[in-house]
This record gives sequence, C-alpha cells and structure tokens, in this order.
Amino acid sequence: MDIKEYAHEHHVPIMLDDGLQFLLEYIQTHNIKTILEIGTAIGYSSMQMAKLDKDIKIDTLEIDPQMYGLAMENINNNQLADQITCYLTDALAFRTDKHYDMIFVDAAKGKYRRYLEHFLTNSDLFIFDNLEFHGIVDDPQLTHNRNTRSLVKKLRTFRDDILKDPKFHCEYHKDIGDGILVLKPIRY
Ligand SMILES: C[S@@+](CC[C@H](N)C(=O)[O-])C[C@H]1O[C@@H](n2cnc3c(N)ncnc32)[C@H](O)[C@@H]1O
Repeated sequence: MDIKEYAHEHHVPIMLDDGLQFLLEYIQTHNIKTILEIGTAIGYSSMQMAKLDKDIKIDTLEIDPQMYGLAMENINNNQLADQITCYLTDALAFRTDKHYDMIFVDAAKGKYRRYLEHFLTNSDLFIFDNLEFHGIVDDPQLTHNRNTRSLVKKLRTFRDDILKDPKFHCEYHKDIGDGILVLKPIRY
C-alpha cells in the first residue's frame, strides 16, 4: 500500500495535494536546500520534499513514537535516510544552532505562535499549513467538539494577529490546501 493510501485508511492527517504542490514548487523556485519540518507524521511530506533534489536535507520532528516508528520505516524503505533525519521529540524541546533555508510548520495547530517564537532565530522563512482548519477557523459552528473549538480559536488568533504584525512579512494563501501562510521575519 502506498503511504498516501495508508494515511487515508488509518486517519493520519497529511498535507492536501494542492498545499503540497504549492510547497514543492516554492522549494524549487526558491532553491531551498535545508529544511526543518515540525510534524513528521509518517514521513509523507518530508519524503516528497526530499525527492525533489538529492541535495535537499531535512530535519523533521515528531512527538508520537508510533508515528515516528512508521516514518523511520518509510524513510528507510525509500532510501531517503541520507537526506532526512527524523527526531522523536516535542518540537518545543528541540534546540539547534542550525540555520535552515525554510521551516515548515505542520504540528499542533494550537501551538503555532510558540513554534514560531521557539525557532525564530533558526530561519528567515516559515511556512505554516492548516490556517483554515477545514473552514472551521472562520465558522466554528461547523464543529461541536470542544477541543476543536478551542484549537481553531487559537489558530484564528494566531492568523489574525500575525497578518497585521509589522515584525513579519506575510503572504497568506487562504484557498491553497488548508490555508497556507508564508512568513518572513523582518530583521532590523
Ligand atoms: C498534520 S501531521 C503532519 C503531517 C505531515 N507533515 C505530512 O503532511 O505528511 C502533524 C504531526 O505533528 C505531530 N506533533 C504534534 N505536536 C507536536 C510537537 N509538539 N512536536 C512534534 N510533533 C508534533 C503529531 O503527532 C502529528 O503526527
């Protein structure tokens, strides 16, 4: 079974096709070679990014041991271990001095602000996925789940605050994938 099929069958959330397409094109057109990914799941998006070019190197962080195990298996089976290093860790406990061409954020949606602050000095380019959260951010009535409501409230606060924050240059693609934000900290 291919990884995408596995993800759908086992309800593993992975990037939507057009969001992934946008990300891959962005990497190619901006000649991005070093990437930190926050939220590996089973390695689908990191493997797609790695397959673009042998020179692309990815560090990817995953908090869930089961997901991490499956990602390692997939990465090894696809002979991508020389390009992708997967860490079993809470992203907020991971510290590095490395500077990445891009940080792709696709983990806990309620923690986007904390991830940004935690990794602010590690890149001049951040891409966040799921800023629309299936339309629920703008229409919380679409869910009756209390946890989802609290999560989308945090996402909305993050999105609305960041888009008007003069410390960041933002391009927001509401209609691509599940809402993709390209953010560049303005360094003085
Ligand atoms: C949406 S999935 C990632 C999908 C993956 N990027 C893809 O498209 O193939 C989010 C993942 O982030 C992980 N995660 C959640 N909070 C995290 C944290 N604080 N640190 C690292 N990983 C986390 C979850 O366990 C989950 O596997």
